[in-house]
Amino acid sequence: MSDGPLNGEISLVTGSGAGNGRAIAKKLAQMGSKVVVNDIDKGKAESVGEEIEKAGGQALVTVGDATKQEEVKRVAKEAKDEYGRVDILVNNVGLFEAIKFTDMELEDWRKYMALNLDSMYLYTYEFLSGMIDREHGKIVNISSDAGKSGYPELVAYSAAKHGVVGFTRALAKEVASDGINVNAVCPGYIKTDMHWAFLDQWAEAAGKTSEEIEEEAIAGIPLGEFGKPEYVAEVVGFLVSPATEWMSGQAVNISGGLETH
Ligand SMILES: NC(=O)c1ccc[n+]([C@@H]2O[C@H](COP(=O)([O-])OP(=O)(O)OC[C@H]3O[C@@H](n4cnc5c(N)ncnc54)[C@H](O)[C@@H]3O)[C@@H](O)[C@H]2O)c1
Repeated sequence: MSDGPLNGEISLVTGSGAGNGRAIAKKLAQMGSKVVVNDIDKGKAESVGEEIEKAGGQALVTVGDATKQEEVKRVAKEAKDEYGRVDILVNNVGLFEAIKFTDMELEDWRKYMALNLDSMYLYTYEFLSGMIDREHGKIVNISSDAGKSGYPELVAYSAAKHGVVGFTRALAKEVASDGINVNAVCPGYIKTDMHWAFLDQWAEAAGKTSEEIEEEAIAGIPLGEFGKPEYVAEVVGFLVSPATEWMSGQAVNISGGLETH
């Protein structure tokens, strides 16, 4: 794995114990990067670290809540103590749940902002100065198709994921002259634990079965099926590869054709 296009690069992927983050961490390791796996769940993080090492890659397993500054600082220190720096940061942590706006208390609103936006701010803050000093770095923020269009029962999530796209576009311009690329990925329906939980919540709210909701959702996807975390990982792999030196501030859709702008 040491002769891939990311040979010599150090990556950190937040929330990489499962779902999209897990596939992204494995992809970056496969491309030759040493990967800092991070999750709030120790067991999940450890199993991804083991998978990477078993496949011949190198991983540092870290555990911490991406919404808490002291924990993010500790994780950042562990990464820097082990590898000296982080060149590639993937802000993947996020949360979506079906909730009607009229049922959404301030604490719910803040939970979605914390998971989707605070986590991105906190990790970027820890690593951006080092990237600027070295004039080298790539940041990829995981947004959503809800970062391009609004979805019912996902008002806070849609607001936050539009925020992820805005953050990406603004920061990309702010640090372009420092040799840093900042891009976002906007996945559609991807088969992860959070996706299945969301379909169940949606079905309950609509008084339908999960199977009915699944059918309706798939019917709205031009390419006719839900996506896999590996599809998201492929796009991230491209965005952090040497092929994208002249690409920044973009929000790339990977949604089976569902989102087209
Ligand atoms: N699955 C989809 O359909 C879909 C679509 C669009 C965007 N996304 C985005 O992809 C990202 C990952 O979602 P997923 O579907 O893979 O979720 P997932 O639930 O499968 O995995 C999320 C991982 O993050 C970890 N995590 C949760 N809270 C954390 C915290 N505070 N600190 C650190 N780690 C934490 C979990 O333990 C878990 O391992 C999110 O930003 C989500 O909004 C997902």
